Amino acid sequence: MKKILVRGGKPLYGNINISGMKNAALPIVFASILVGERCIVENLPAVSDVELSLNILESMGATVERLGNNTVAIDTTNFINGTSPVEMVSKLRGSTYLLGAELGRFGEARVGSSGGCDFGSRPIDQHIKGFCALGAKFESGDTYNYVKAGPGGLYGTSVYLDIASVGATINVMLAATLAKGKTTIDNAAREPHIVDLANFLNMCGARITGAGTSVIKITGVEKLHGCDYTILPDMIEAGTYMAAVAAVGGRVSMRGVIPKHMETVTAKLLEMGVDVEIYEDIITVSRFVRPGPANVKTYFYPGFPTDMHPQFSALLCVASGVSTVTESVWENRFKYVDELSKMGANISIEGNRATITGIERFKSAAVEASDLRAGAALIIAGLNAEGETSITGVERIERGYDDIVGKLRAIGADIELVEE
Ligand code: EPU
Repeated sequence: MKKILVRGGKPLYGNINISGMKNAALPIVFASILVGERCIVENLPAVSDVELSLNILESMGATVERLGNNTVAIDTTNFINGTSPVEMVSKLRGSTYLLGAELGRFGEARVGSSGGCDFGSRPIDQHIKGFCALGAKFESGDTYNYVKAGPGGLYGTSVYLDIASVGATINVMLAATLAKGKTTIDNAAREPHIVDLANFLNMCGARITGAGTSVIKITGVEKLHGCDYTILPDMIEAGTYMAAVAAVGGRVSMRGVIPKHMETVTAKLLEMGVDVEIYEDIITVSRFVRPGPANVKTYFYPGFPTDMHPQFSALLCVASGVSTVTESVWENRFKYVDELSKMGANISIEGNRATITGIERFKSAAVEASDLRAGAALIIAGLNAEGETSITGVERIERGYDDIVGKLRAIGADIELVEE
C-alpha cells in the first residue's frame, strides 16, 4: 500500500512549476476522437486520470505516442466506435466525454457508466438534454449508456442548460462540432477549461465562439484536421500550493500560471492578510504571520472554485478566529472533515456550510484521502502539523496532482512517498 508521510512544521521556500490542467487535458484527449487524424498535445500533466484516458483511447484503436513526459501524439484515424472498456471507463468521470465525442463523429456511442470522485449524486441529465435537443435518442442500460443520432445525423439547435455544468457544456460542444447547422448553448459553464477545449477544437478547424461566456455558439463543420496544442496551466494545482504556503509559512513562487484564473483564490488570501504578488505568469505567496479568518462560498467560475474547497478549509483551520465555507456546487464535499478532525481541526457542519474555529496548529495522525482534493487538504494539514502524519488513499491524490510529493520536497517540505 502506498502512503504519504509528512513531518510538518518546515516553512516552504522556492519555486514550483505549475503543470497542465487535468480538467482541460481530459476533454481535449477525448475530443481528439472527433479529429480522426494525428494531433499533438503538449503540457499534459503526468497524472493517473490523464494516463487512464489515453489508455482508454489506445484500447479503442487510437495510436498514442509518448513524445516526452508531457507531450503525446494521438492519432484516432483507426478509432473503433463503441468499444470502450467498461472497467476502465468506470474509474473516470471524464469518460462521459466519450458519449459526446463518439456521437459527434460516428452518430452513436455506447459507453459504460463513468466513475470519479464521490460527492453524492453525479447526474448527467443535462448532458442527455443536450444530446436529445441535437436530435439523438438516449437510453440507459444496466452497464452501458447508449446515444444515437436520427437517420439524418445531428442538427444544430438551441440548448439551455438548467445548471452551468462543466461536463454537460463540454459534451454538447463535442456533439455539436460536426453537427449540421448552428448550436447555441445558453447558461454554458465559463471555466477556463471550456475555453481551452474550444481553442483546441478551433485549431482543428471547428467554428466555436463565445467560450468563456454563458453563451457558446457552434457552427457545425464537416471535418476536423490535426493540430499541435498546448494545455493551459492548472489553476487548482496552483491554488493548492498557494493555500499550502499560507497554511505553513514561507515564500513560494508559482511559475507558469495565468493570474486571471487565480483571482478568487488570490482575493481570499489577501483578505486573510497573506501577501500575494502578481506578475505576468508568476504568483508569489509569502506568509510570515498567522492569517486571519475568511468566509468562502464556492460557485461556478468565476466564483470560488469548489475544487479549492477542502484545501482552503485546511488553511482556515489554522487561521485565527472563526471562518465559514459554504459549498454550492456539490451535494457532499465534506468527507475530508472527519479526517481533519482527527488532526485536531475544530469544524462543525450544518447543511452545506462548515464553520471552522481556528486552532494554533494541526497535530499528526493517520488519515485517509477520501478523494483527490480531500487528499490535498490532508497534505496541507500534514505540512502544518506537529509530528508525522501518514496519509493513505494516495492513488486518489495521484489522479490529479502531478508529482505533488516531489514538488513539495523541492520547496523544503519533509514529505515522502513510501510503499509498504
Ligand atoms: N449536474 C447536474 N446535472 C448534470 C450535470 C451536473 O445536476 O447533468 C450538477 C452536479 O450534480 C453538480 C453541478 O451540476 O452539482 C456541477 O457539476 P459539473 O457537471 O459542472 O461537474 P463535472 O463536469 O462532473 C467537473 C470537474 C470537477 C469539478 C466540477 C465543478 C472534470 C473531470 N471534473 O466535474 O473536478 O468539481 O466540474 O467545477 O472536469 C476535481 O478535479 O477534483 C473535480 C472533481
